[in-house]
Amino acid sequence: MSETPPRSDVRAVRRALVPRTARRTPQTSSVDDRFFRHIIRSMRNGVLAIHRDGRLALMNDEAYRIFALTKTAEDVGRRFADVLCERPEIVRVLGGAFELSHLPNRAELRLTDLDRVIGYTLSQVKEDEGAPRGAVLFFKDLTQVEQLEERERLRDRLASLGEMAAGIAHELKNPLAGIEVMAGLLRRQVSDSKDAQSLLADIISEAKLANAIVVEMLEFVRPVRLQVERTSIAEVVQQSVTMAESKAERGSVDVTVDLERGLPHIQADHHQLCQVFTNLLANAFEALGRKGHITITAATGAMDNDPAFVGVHPPTPTVVVDVADDGPGLKADVTEKIFDPFFTTKVTGTGLGLAIVRKIVDAHDGRIDVSSDEGVGTRFRVTLPITSSAVWFK
Ligand SMILES: Nc1ncnc2c1ncn2[C@@H]1O[C@H](COP(=O)(O)OP(=O)(O)OP(=O)(O)O)[C@@H](O)[C@H]1O
Ligand SMILES: [Mg+2]
Repeated sequence: MSETPPRSDVRAVRRALVPRTARRTPQTSSVDDRFFRHIIRSMRNGVLAIHRDGRLALMNDEAYRIFALTKTAEDVGRRFADVLCERPEIVRVLGGAFELSHLPNRAELRLTDLDRVIGYTLSQVKEDEGAPRGAVLFFKDLTQVEQLEERERLRDRLASLGEMAAGIAHELKNPLAGIEVMAGLLRRQVSDSKDAQSLLADIISEAKLANAIVVEMLEFVRPVRLQVERTSIAEVVQQSVTMAESKAERGSVDVTVDLERGLPHIQADHHQLCQVFTNLLANAFEALGRKGHITITAATGAMDNDPAFVGVHPPTPTVVVDVADDGPGLKADVTEKIFDPFFTTKVTGTGLGLAIVRKIVDAHDGRIDVSSDEGVGTRFRVTLPITSSAVWFK
């Protein structure tokens, strides 16, 4: 699969990169050529070079991987615009290589079709006397870095929202308790008036409801402290289905559980994971409105942790649990808000269910992703490391 760039092209790049004085005899030059070819092939960056007349000079394996293109023996020497016709954004960037006076350095570009972001530098390959002979694009896949940054941003946002919520909850707790107590006292004083009794009963039950919201809010802002133990996903799933049934109406919703055979136990907090899947299942029951299907699947997988170490450290072994329903799905503008605390589309919802889910999954060094098609259904994917390094998370 890993085809080396042709010697003549490597020489052209080398000629442009290595000063004339540093060039050696024919023997050392062929050793150098091989060395340069190895450099380009082994680079963990994408490298793509073109000739001045628009022909592709070289493209290394990482470049093919990032652009999701299949390498063919005829690519080198063809017009780069033809080879890269599926990546028009790149064709546009390379097209400006000989026209722009300042070429982009450390610029970023989104490959929309692939939903991938690359960071790149474009340089001209020049002859000794300065005439450009070609151009070379160095680039790196930044998608994982972006996702990491997005998670960090969300974590910061949740932290500041959490602080604000904690303050409000704290301030509300006392007056709410006061209202409940005073309404109770008043109730005793007007025991002969039926109307007053019923109004006061309403005041007490509303105050209780407000108090329950405050308690949930405080629960949400409290740091997650994990009691890590050997946890069976099968047991977590089974208990969560029962707990979700007491939280939301199941009706005739059909639940299918499909776990990979020999699924390993994971290092996790059993009770908190039950809370994760209970919330996801309760949401699915609510979305389905008493009829439809929920499928829970679990299988082993692997995830890369730190993008800087992709290919260096082996990926972390994980268990991937999917909770999928065939309910109404999510609108695109709703999808990005569902993990925000207090975001709800329900009359009686607090909007804390998924915010708590995310917090617990984060505490396990895990990931949660959602994919949804309006009118088709929603799938939440929870990825959890089999061995967790996290003991507590603020
Ligand atoms: N499976 C699903 N299908 C469709 N929409 C969903 C699904 N799960 C969540 N949602 C949407 O995400 C929103 C936020 O969910 P979240 O669990 O955080 O809060 P909630 O269910 O509204 O209230 P709470 O869980 O606090 O009672 C929901 O109001 C709903 O619009
Ligand atoms: Mg919910």
